[in-house]
Amino acid sequence: MISKPKGTKDIYGTVAKRWKYVEKVIDEVMEKYHYGYIRTPLFESTELFHRGVGETSDIVTKETYDFLDRGERSMTLRPEGTAGVVRSYIEDKMYGDAIQPVKFYYNGTMYRYERPQAGRERELTQFGCEVLGSDDPAVDAEVISLAAQIYRILGLKNVTIHINSLGDADSRNNYRQALVKYFEPHLDLLCDDCKSRFAKNPLRILDCKVDGESELFENAPKMVDYLNEESKKRFEKVLEYLDILEIPYVVDSKIVRGLDYYNHTVFEFESDINETGSTMAIGGGGCYNQLVSELGGPEVCGVGFGSGMDRLLLALEHEGAQLPVKEDIDLYLLYVNDEEKKYAIYLAQELRMNGFIVEMENMKRSLKAQFKQADRLKAKFTIVLNSAELDEDEVTIKNTRTKEEEKVQIDALIYYLDENLEDDDFMCDCGDECHHHGE
Ligand code: HAM
Repeated sequence: MISKPKGTKDIYGTVAKRWKYVEKVIDEVMEKYHYGYIRTPLFESTELFHRGVGETSDIVTKETYDFLDRGERSMTLRPEGTAGVVRSYIEDKMYGDAIQPVKFYYNGTMYRYERPQAGRERELTQFGCEVLGSDDPAVDAEVISLAAQIYRILGLKNVTIHINSLGDADSRNNYRQALVKYFEPHLDLLCDDCKSRFAKNPLRILDCKVDGESELFENAPKMVDYLNEESKKRFEKVLEYLDILEIPYVVDSKIVRGLDYYNHTVFEFESDINETGSTMAIGGGGCYNQLVSELGGPEVCGVGFGSGMDRLLLALEHEGAQLPVKEDIDLYLLYVNDEEKKYAIYLAQELRMNGFIVEMENMKRSLKAQFKQADRLKAKFTIVLNSAELDEDEVTIKNTRTKEEEKVQIDALIYYLDENLEDDDFMCDCGDECHHHGE
């Protein structure tokens, strides 16, 4: 037997239905915020991620899937979505478009060679957005509120937004120096990864998963104390706009993000996915004011977020959030002889084309076994096609819940089903504004 690669998943059945529903909500919310859908390639030149995501990030140093194609070009399966979107923006000169800023959203598979565990896949699906061409802090707030709305509409409750500012280049330089001065006498206490981060990108030390909670880290200099006036004002604006939007947040100096391209606002959405009390980032993002120029474009700002579908679904499951996924079908068609079967084939298509979810017998089962199948499929109605009735252009339809049977003229069947199929009986506890109602 050939099994799936480690860190990948097959998604089908009820999980696939939940997945599709979440994707539908993402599409709807993104559309309301006026973000256009973008699909970029699953693989790109390796150089894009080295220059984009950053030489010192864990993602590039340890986690990319690199390969040489048959033309000996070095390619990489995308580990995230931002670099590809920015590459496309530059390549197609979107900075010259009449409509600015340029706003995109995406949803697709990314690849990271990580140690798989719950919520950490090697093939992960990430949705996210990017806004390019505006440095208005209101855009940062918009991007954060967009993600928050998606989580809220899905019914997720225990999510905390952790936000921080990495400031502009000047502020970060000052901070970097302060960190170097602080950690230098304690180098021997740092893990091997942090020792190399110390040399290449000391800010990333704060992202350490090994020692992050230790006293040494708790007492480290805080970025907010090194922000220059301009960066501080910009960060205050973002927070002010979030207040207007009534989006709660926690200012958290430990948020530095694992990718090298950020400055100014950075944020993470934390969910308490597991019982152990530890949290997991279901999303994260921030501003990147130099990424576009580093990749060969003009000096424009970008801001965006990425959110893991696998983690979001885990969080929804963990919180017991009810998603309005349909587990039943409207009608099951049963028959005995070949003439009735031919009619079933025809009728199933007619009704499907009129919007009903219809299944028919296809396993040569006895009538008794067909009824069992109707039960398994949770059919709301059944019709046993019967030649004698068909000659009279009628069928007997049975409501499987009330067990009532009724004779209906075939040309009135669509009307009958429309009248008798109850509206979605799904109820959820998400409050008045809940998107689920009226689905
Ligand atoms: P990131 O923090 O590396 O940011 O990833 C964003 C989200 O993807 C994480 O918060 C997590 O939910 C999910 N994720 C990451 N790795 C895995 C994994 N191995 N398995 C499952 N889920 C995972 C970015 O990728 C940036 N591109 C976000 C961004 C967009 N920043 C600006 N624009």
